[in-house]
Amino acid sequence: MSEPLEWVSVSAAQTAELGTALAQLLHPGDLVIVRGELGTGKTTLTRSIGRALGISEQITSPTFALAQRYDGPVPLLHIDAYRLHGADDEEMGLLLDGAADALTVVEWPERLEADLGRPRVGVELRHGGGDRRLVALAAEDPATQERLAEIVADLRARHIHAEP
Ligand SMILES: Nc1ncnc2c1ncn2[C@@H]1O[C@H](COP(=O)(O)OP(=O)(O)OP(=O)(O)O)[C@@H](O)[C@H]1O
Ligand SMILES: [Mg+2]
Repeated sequence: MSEPLEWVSVSAAQTAELGTALAQLLHPGDLVIVRGELGTGKTTLTRSIGRALGISEQITSPTFALAQRYDGPVPLLHIDAYRLHGADDEEMGLLLDGAADALTVVEWPERLEADLGRPRVGVELRHGGGDRRLVALAAEDPATQERLAEIVADLRARHIHAEP
């Protein structure tokens, strides 16, 4: 992963805008990992990505289901590993069933010990006081990193007041 790009979101709506923009650069089979403490907006971000993919079903937190697949023009596989304390390769295989043709978003990837594969994009959310969230975005491949930089520049231009 390259040096993360930083952005400050001041509302759930702004975080959702990021998700909408991210969906444009993601393809079926891609993996997105979303780290961050409780309540930082991981599911909010995932939901907005799903909406932008054209999924009409309500995307909820799959904390109890662990993995939830939503069908749509591009299916979404939403994994929340919060309650998983380590998962062996067989369990990972079950969780990732249906990932090949879907966009997979994983909350709490750090709870998984088995290898998830290479993420297209990594997102980290941190509480910044009130509704502020400090967002760090990173990609491994330079083309994706460039797209991320464009997304951040665009969000900054639209929300100039959001800068600290
Ligand atoms: N800037 C912001 N970005 C995202 N969410 C925000 C922001 N400001 C306030 N919120 C609120 O914070 C909450 C985030 O909840 P969400 O379920 O998305 O977090 P989460 O990281 O998935 O939590 P969990 O760790 O429990 O899965 C929502 O109620 C959302 O409206
Ligand atoms: Mg969540």
